[in-house]
Amino acid sequence: MYPVLKIDNLQTHFHTRTGVAKAIDVVSFEIGKGEIVCVVGESGCGKSMTALSVLRLVPHPGRIVGGEIWLDGENLMAFSESEMRAVRGDRVSMIFQEPMVSLNPAFTIGNQLIEAVRIHRRVSRTEARERAIAMLRRVELPAPEARMDAYPHELSGGMRQRVMIAEALLLDPALLLADEPTTALDVTVQAQVLEVMVRAARESGTAIMMITHNLAVVSEIADRVVVMYAGRVVEQGTAEEIFTRPAHPYTRGLLRAIPSLPLGDDDGPRQPLYEMGGLVPSLTDLPPGCAFCPRCPEAFAPCDRERPPGFALGSTHAAACWLHRQEAER
Ligand SMILES: Nc1ncnc2c1ncn2[C@@H]1O[C@H](COP(=O)(O)OP(=O)(O)O)[C@@H](O)[C@H]1O
Ligand SMILES: [Mg+2]
Repeated sequence: MYPVLKIDNLQTHFHTRTGVAKAIDVVSFEIGKGEIVCVVGESGCGKSMTALSVLRLVPHPGRIVGGEIWLDGENLMAFSESEMRAVRGDRVSMIFQEPMVSLNPAFTIGNQLIEAVRIHRRVSRTEARERAIAMLRRVELPAPEARMDAYPHELSGGMRQRVMIAEALLLDPALLLADEPTTALDVTVQAQVLEVMVRAARESGTAIMMITHNLAVVSEIADRVVVMYAGRVVEQGTAEEIFTRPAHPYTRGLLRAIPSLPLGDDDGPRQPLYEMGGLVPSLTDLPPGCAFCPRCPEAFAPCDRERPPGFALGSTHAAACWLHRQEAER
């Protein structure tokens, strides 16, 4: 059986006056049917560009310059623009941080959802309406029938985001790309909205690629985790592997920077909040070795000269770090 999504040696570059920014230097990973995969990493590491590349919506002057993107065994890179339009919003949908940019303020919620169904499916307005109401119920929007007549500005931020989730799941997509979908909301509302998103996606068998920098969220919802740094995957594994046996010093740094996660002795005195030193390198001028080397507390001989490949640490766990060369060879 094919994975829902297989990203194979994807490269997405921005050609700018100051040079070529390798937003995605090279990225490969897969998402299985119904799986929830969280993509994490600091700002500017290429997470959003990975999601936009999957939909072939990289903004100018960015361009996919290499690699393949397989959706259920079909290579999207070989699709025409009209074939891609049929994929977007149907087999693959996406939700963003700020729902006001995606919902049209001039139309009622009902009209937008009904249209979203009818773009892709030949069904009557009545059928489309029923589908929309059922989906609003699934994302636990109170009084869904009445809300069909509301305009976006009449709803709270959390309610609007539920509508966006309903719209994204309307046609039972194989894959939902969620890019920091709740960052603009209050913390308490964030948790409720995420819970609803995950439950609704599980009901329709939809896999999720969830981009977030909030590792507490990841520990709640992820089946697997992909850690990105400077346009590459530096570690991936099951949520358990990443949280209990993080193998890349970058992953360990990210984990130490979250206050709420117990690491090691939970009974000991509380550590002050750790902050990783240094900055993400310029993507126009990546160092020849490991991109994390200048910030890495464990760097040694090969690190600044040679880029580490992904070393397998188990059937589901891999890390691109020279520390694991020997382990992987055993
Ligand atoms: N419009 C743009 N022009 C030039 N470079 C860009 C542009 N948008 C993104 N990039 C490059 O792509 C990199 C990755 O961006 P992005 O995927 O948005 O990061 P993330 O979502 O992980 O914060 C940025 O660090 C930047 O170098
Ligand atoms: Mg982003």
